[in-house]
Amino acid sequence: MSLKKRLGKLLVDPSFRHPAILRAVIALDEATGIDLMSVLKPFKMVPSRQLFVRSFAHFITGESIALRTSTDLQAIAPDERTRQYLARQASDEDRHHRHFVDRLGQFGLMPDNLPSYVAPNFGKFGERIDRAIASGDFASGLIGNNVIVEGLAILMMTMGGSEMRENSDEIAKFMEYVLADERHHLRFGERTLKRLAEEEKIDLPRTEQFVADMWGTATMAVDEIPDVLDALDLDPGTLKASMRDFYRAQLRPAGLEHALA
Ligand SMILES: [Fe+2]
Ligand SMILES: [Fe+2]
Repeated sequence: MSLKKRLGKLLVDPSFRHPAILRAVIALDEATGIDLMSVLKPFKMVPSRQLFVRSFAHFITGESIALRTSTDLQAIAPDERTRQYLARQASDEDRHHRHFVDRLGQFGLMPDNLPSYVAPNFGKFGERIDRAIASGDFASGLIGNNVIVEGLAILMMTMGGSEMRENSDEIAKFMEYVLADERHHLRFGERTLKRLAEEEKIDLPRTEQFVADMWGTATMAVDEIPDVLDALDLDPGTLKASMRDFYRAQLRPAGLEHALA
């Protein structure tokens, strides 16, 4: 194991396991004026404070969109079995949301103005999904959350952060805790859409327009977070190409993949 990796494990793992250590680093920064977290940034062991909060802010926003969507979709679910799954998903999303919020709070990094850390187009995901649900469009609401938003989170967590995960078993476990559920939600979305398409319960022109809108928002959101992607060692162009392939594969069973240009 390289010295850098050894140093990483020595520093990052205990900090993530015992938030008091990271809080102490931050307090030391404030007392001395040395931005230790920035000093360590070239090693990508610990991102700067600003970047740490910004990265968490996007995951927290994603979870709150997922919580709101899975809750609101229950009222327009096509059948009781689907409604029950969404109720279970809402309780997962609530748990995920707390998972991120609690950890940021334990690090002493929860700002008063968390939404200001989030890319503008990331916030628009939620608004567009809300409008679809308000108009009674179940298929679009499900695509918006269970395919587009969750798919983006899954890709960011699986394609990115490999160095971070290598440096810390704690971070790997922290991400895997959420990922297992998200993969399940994604499969539910894919299967439900396929069934709705077979039963001809999808308004194709309306849903295709929704997919096109969400794709535009998703690509703009990626362009707005170069710093977060850099912290995860992700190239924006590679991520967008993977998103397109991933979304098309998820939408293909319902015959909706052509909506993605
Ligand atoms: Fe989630
Ligand atoms: Fe989810």
